[in-house]
Amino acid sequence: MDCHFLAVANQKGGVGKTATAVNVAAALAVLELDTLLVDLDPQANATGNLLNTAGTPGIADVLIDDVELQRVVRLTGRKHLSIAPGNSRLSSYIPKTRTELREKILPSSTRYRFVVLDCPPALGGSTVSALASCDEIVVPVQAEYLALEGLSSLITAVNRVRDGLEPVKTRYLLTMFDGRNRLAKEVEADLRRHFGGSVSRVVIPRSVRMAEAPGFRRTIFEHAANSGVADAYATFAKEVAVDVGR
Ligand SMILES: Nc1ncnc2c1ncn2[C@@H]1O[C@H](COP(=O)(O)OP(=O)(O)OP(=O)(O)O)[C@@H](O)[C@H]1O
Ligand SMILES: [Mg+2]
Repeated sequence: MDCHFLAVANQKGGVGKTATAVNVAAALAVLELDTLLVDLDPQANATGNLLNTAGTPGIADVLIDDVELQRVVRLTGRKHLSIAPGNSRLSSYIPKTRTELREKILPSSTRYRFVVLDCPPALGGSTVSALASCDEIVVPVQAEYLALEGLSSLITAVNRVRDGLEPVKTRYLLTMFDGRNRLAKEVEADLRRHFGGSVSRVVIPRSVRMAEAPGFRRTIFEHAANSGVADAYATFAKEVAVDVGR
């Protein structure tokens, strides 16, 4: 079966991209689906969340210097979950072709059922290559003022980057959601009105357990397995897996 490439992207900063990439990848691994997390952010937060060693060599060496992917992939100590680390070199990456990222991962694709791409908060080289290289885009959305305005520039970028490529599924995911906040509920309603079935029924709650987990280098399943937020990420990952027939 083919390997499914999932890009987690939103050019807005701090909306829960890395939390989503790490915990969706971890949830897929719990489902015994071999998953490679690729950290495309020069800040390398996903790498720091899972490993206690530096992100060198990393995916930048694959993209910039044509190093073979398997020479940079690390085990994470978690079954079914590997990572291609990120580091600051990624900020100077300029894709040589639009789908270079996909082409460089494809020789390893029989090893993985899912490749999860954690994008930086910008529409630069690594985000563009992730958007062009993926089969599906997951867009974490924080339910706050102007959230939807930011999405229209993302959609414009996706349409430009994907011009001439296969259409791509986009799945919106509300993150850090506080159901007691009236504005959050209004933004949720707006998002569902605009994007209908492309918005996941699953909503990720705001939880201090999520804010804590990266500091302990834990996924939410390791830090607070029985929390509502762990449940939400597990349910969302199942939705993704079922939709692609895994
Ligand atoms: N559901 C949640 N509840 C509470 N805190 C959260 C939740 N999800 C993420 N956070 C915290 O919010 C902050 C931003 O999350 P994260 O790093 O995932 O966002 P990001 O979109 O990847 O940011 P950047 O744009 O800088 O890459 C982090 O400190 C993270 O631990
Ligand atoms: Mg991030």
